[in-house]
Amino acid sequence: MLKVDKQSEYSSNVKIIQGDFNLVLIDPKDEFDLILSDMAPEFSGDSKVDRGRTHKLNLETIKLSKRLLKKKGSLVIKTFEGEDIKLVREQMKKLFFEVRDYKPQSSKKGSSEFYIVGLKKKY
Ligand SMILES: C[S@@+](CC[C@H](N)C(=O)[O-])C[C@H]1O[C@@H](n2cnc3c(N)ncnc32)[C@H](O)[C@@H]1O
Repeated sequence: MLKVDKQSEYSSNVKIIQGDFNLVLIDPKDEFDLILSDMAPEFSGDSKVDRGRTHKLNLETIKLSKRLLKKKGSLVIKTFEGEDIKLVREQMKKLFFEVRDYKPQSSKKGSSEFYIVGLKKKY
């Protein structure tokens, strides 16, 4: 298991790389069955700006998954409803045979936060 985060944290059974996931070097030999992204940008308080930043992060995560996720692998990303969610869905549908929304019970009821789940990577 590999965790990448800008913030450092100790965990005994997880390999941790501290840094921006776009900039850190992940061994190209490493391929994953599952990528889980709970990443969120720094929030400005302006919901339009914050959703835009979240969707940009989502698109970057999908791009990285093209390279690091095994064929038939899965991707889960946290996101929000908003202007660019259509683009995020389109990119997910290009990469996965199955794409579903998931709102966990722990997610605040009034929040538009949810997860997009991509199953069975196409290639
Ligand atoms: C809601 S927290 C998720 C915490 C995570 N679930 C955990 O248990 O450690 C959002 C996290 O996204 C990280 N993050 C945001 N943008 C990032 C990026 N470009 N690269 C790596 N981590 C990022 C932040 O540092 C923050 O820790």
